[in-house]
Amino acid sequence: MQNDAITPIIAVDRKARRPLHQQIYDSYRQAILGGTLRPGQRIPSTRSLATELGVSRMPVLNAYAQLMAEGYFQARSGAGTVISLSLPEERFVSLNTITARTPSRSRRLARHSSVPSSIDNPPWRRQWGAFAIGQVASEQFPVREWNRMVMRASRNLWSKPQDYTHPLGVQELREAIASYLRTARSVHCEAEQIMIVNGSQHALDISARVLLDPGSRVWVEEPGYRYGRYALALNRCKLLPVPVDEEGLDVEFGTRRCPNARAALVTPSHQYPLGMTMSASRRLNLLDWAARSGAWILEDDFDSEYRYDGMPISSLQGLDPNQRVIYIGTLSKILFPSLRMGYMVIPADLVEHFITLRVAMDIGPSTFSQHILAGFIKEGHFSRHVRRMRLLYRERRNALVENIEKYFGESVTIIGEQAGMHICVLVNGVSDREVVARAARAGLSLVALSSCYMGKGARQGLILGFGSVPANKMAGAVRKLAAAVAG
Ligand SMILES: Cc1ncc(COP(=O)(O)O)c(C=O)c1O
Repeated sequence: MQNDAITPIIAVDRKARRPLHQQIYDSYRQAILGGTLRPGQRIPSTRSLATELGVSRMPVLNAYAQLMAEGYFQARSGAGTVISLSLPEERFVSLNTITARTPSRSRRLARHSSVPSSIDNPPWRRQWGAFAIGQVASEQFPVREWNRMVMRASRNLWSKPQDYTHPLGVQELREAIASYLRTARSVHCEAEQIMIVNGSQHALDISARVLLDPGSRVWVEEPGYRYGRYALALNRCKLLPVPVDEEGLDVEFGTRRCPNARAALVTPSHQYPLGMTMSASRRLNLLDWAARSGAWILEDDFDSEYRYDGMPISSLQGLDPNQRVIYIGTLSKILFPSLRMGYMVIPADLVEHFITLRVAMDIGPSTFSQHILAGFIKEGHFSRHVRRMRLLYRERRNALVENIEKYFGESVTIIGEQAGMHICVLVNGVSDREVVARAARAGLSLVALSSCYMGKGARQGLILGFGSVPANKMAGAVRKLAAAVAG
């Protein structure tokens, strides 16, 4: 008999008149019909349940025999006794029936005007077909080296007492990241300013809680990154969409419309989704506005490791003499998104405020994967991987651009191909959302450019990720795309 099953809550009352075996039987039956226990789930042995309930084994044996006879339990070879797999699905209370019963409550909860009540085309529900945004070349990941670091982190786990650690994160990792950022991104920072977070939105959430108030106005790029906007909207910020043109954020527009904004969320190295780099004069104007008005700049530097043409672009933070920039980076593009790890660089005089807020939120980040990553960087696998991926993604980018030109000719305009892991293809005379829906039926995973706009006047276009599409598969994928565009 198996002993590794989790014991369900079985209420027995030894003083009650109802026999114990009947009470155990009723508890199981209710838990099965109510959906608490699901088909295939293992049940504890009679011995361990009897011990947990503090009763003799006999009533448990009797209850189990009856549940087995009535088909609620079934014996499964190799898995012991499980909840019967043949119980009809409709007997179970599903999440859909629960939400259908409580529509007014869910409407009331959707009270953040800038956060939709449900997320359209969310990344965890997207099929992982060609062109999925944010998907990396996972088949090229140095799995052996990573696993070695995992083994080492596991071995070292118990060499020190496992207790709560520093809210900023593991020192060794913060030192490695600080050194990388100083060298590769011209960020002014020390390890003491780095806070490890669960991704870019987490960094924005923490920044908004420390620096902004409900009702604070924030410039956001139009079009821009909707998940970044959600993090600010959740903190009750009022978002002002500021258009981007070929030089990046139109700082003059923002200054005219909303000079008193408390912050600006920008992607200066590689605008999401259009892909331009913010010009030097716009950078200086933005920093100047921030210094004059006491505003904060939230710099989302999400994929600047991958630049294919021209010189690397240094960070906005590195240009700022006034420490008004919160620099945010992620490991989703360099390593893989499910790692859920990013970092922020906090101005030195604000570090204590951020630490206090972090402790109030969640005490601090989980440390196990930080140790793995620290080893991975220290042993050189990280920089080797970035270098290899830059070459690989350049090849994939070239293949995508060539095939778009071949299959679409002059009918579309490609923008943002100089950097990153996606390009944007502007289309005419078709609805981008309809193309996305048709492409999904053909197994492709695209994002509509119009979904990145907050206001009216959205341009129609397709955002195509190329990170996970090998160069020799690109022609086939673009052919399918051309069919989806043609309808
Ligand atoms: C503009 C932008 N910022 C940040 C990210 C990364 O987010 P995260 O760190 O939450 O994975 C992405 C991912 O696609 C992005 O497009």
